[in-house]
Amino acid sequence: MTERSAAAVSARRWARPRQNRICPSILSADFSRLGDEIAGVARAGADFLHVDVMDGQFVPNLTFGPILVSAMRRLTSLPLDVHLMIVEPLRHLEAFASAGADHLIVHLEAVRDPVRSLREIRARGLRAGLSIKPGTALPPYLDALPECDIALVMTVEPGRGGQPFLEGSEKRIAAVREVIEAGNLDCLLGVDGGIDPQTAARAARAGADTFIAGNSVFGAPDPPEALRALRRSVGIS
Ligand code: DX5
Ligand code: ZN
Repeated sequence: MTERSAAAVSARRWARPRQNRICPSILSADFSRLGDEIAGVARAGADFLHVDVMDGQFVPNLTFGPILVSAMRRLTSLPLDVHLMIVEPLRHLEAFASAGADHLIVHLEAVRDPVRSLREIRARGLRAGLSIKPGTALPPYLDALPECDIALVMTVEPGRGGQPFLEGSEKRIAAVREVIEAGNLDCLLGVDGGIDPQTAARAARAGADTFIAGNSVFGAPDPPEALRALRRSVGIS
C-alpha cells in the first residue's frame, strides 16, 4: 500500500472524515530571509505557520516573543500557531494575542489549571491549544480536551528542532484520538517533532490530522517542494 492510500484508509477508520493540515515551523527557517521563506511555503499550501516560543526556563533554549509574531502578522495572512514553551504562559497571553497570534498553545506541564488556561485563551477569541511532553502521563491531559481546539502531542522532547520522532508516539496519538472521537470533540490533533513524510504518514494512521514540521521543510534544499511532499504523504492533493 502506498503512503497516500494508507493515509486515506486511516481516515476512513474514524466516524468523521478528517481534513489533514500541514504547519511548517519557522524555527528552522533562514531568518535573514524570513519573508521569502514564509511566502514559499504559503504558495506551496501551508495551512498554518508554527512559531516556537522558548524562554530558557521551561526549555533550555531561547527563541522569540511577541515582536516576531507581530512582524509575521504583517508578512502573511496565514493563521499563526504560537507554541508557548514558557513558564507562566498566562502572563503573556495578552501580548501574543495583541501581536496577532491566531492559536495559542500552552503546555500542560506549565499551567496549574489547564481548563482555566484554555478558557482564558478562548475568551480572547483565539483557538486554544494544549501540548504535552512525551514523558508526561496522559490522563489529566485527556480530561482537558473538551476545552481544547488543538491537542498538540509532542513527538520529541520540546526545546529544539531536528530531533528524531520518538518511538512510542503513535500509542499516545491514538489515545488522544480515541477521546476526541468518543466525545465528538471539535479539536485538531497535532504532532510536533521529527515530522517528515514517513513519520507524518505513521502519525496520520495513528489519528493525527495536523502536522508540524521544521527541519524537514526549512532544512530541505527546496522548502516548498518539501512541503508538497509532506502534503502528499498524508493524502492532501
Ligand atoms: C520543538 C518544537 C518544534 C520544532 C519541530 O520543541 O516545538 O515545533 O520546530 O522541529 P522539527 O520538525 O525539526 O523536529
Ligand atoms: Zn512547536
